[in-house]
Amino acid sequence: MSDQTLSVLTAGRLESLAAFYAEHLVLRPRFTKGSRWARRVLSGPGHEAWLLGWLPGQGTELHDHGGLERPAAAAVAVVSGRLTEYTVRPGAFPALARAELGPGAVTAVDDRTVHAVRNDSRAPAVSLHVYSPGLDAMRTYLFDETGLSPSKIKRAGEDW
Ligand SMILES: [Fe+2]
Repeated sequence: MSDQTLSVLTAGRLESLAAFYAEHLVLRPRFTKGSRWARRVLSGPGHEAWLLGWLPGQGTELHDHGGLERPAAAAVAVVSGRLTEYTVRPGAFPALARAELGPGAVTAVDDRTVHAVRNDSRAPAVSLHVYSPGLDAMRTYLFDETGLSPSKIKRAGEDW
């Protein structure tokens, strides 16, 4: 089956997969100074899973999952530690919504959502992310008093 025939998995399905993979890790997470550690651990039908290790203070920029080329929906399951998710609420006056994600928390975003994930805690954190159809690239965004504007395209294997 090619990617062309696969639709993006539903939020509920992505959350279930993320929770399942988080409970059945086959790789020990690592932590790297400077930037979060990320490794693609599985490619399944219509989705792929990434394991991430976050030291205190590490996080992403505001981003989507694929830009216009291949937008992906996603789910995040926190394996250990605590993460904070900042999600852009679109509209005439976009705003950032903040959610605290503790161990066992699972959350999903659709293929148009712009968000950031950070370890704002004082301890390392590990999370398992599932993307559908997959994560080839992320478009980063700047968010200020003028609103949300696209910044850079970052590609898997090159930029993280
Ligand atoms: Fe993301």
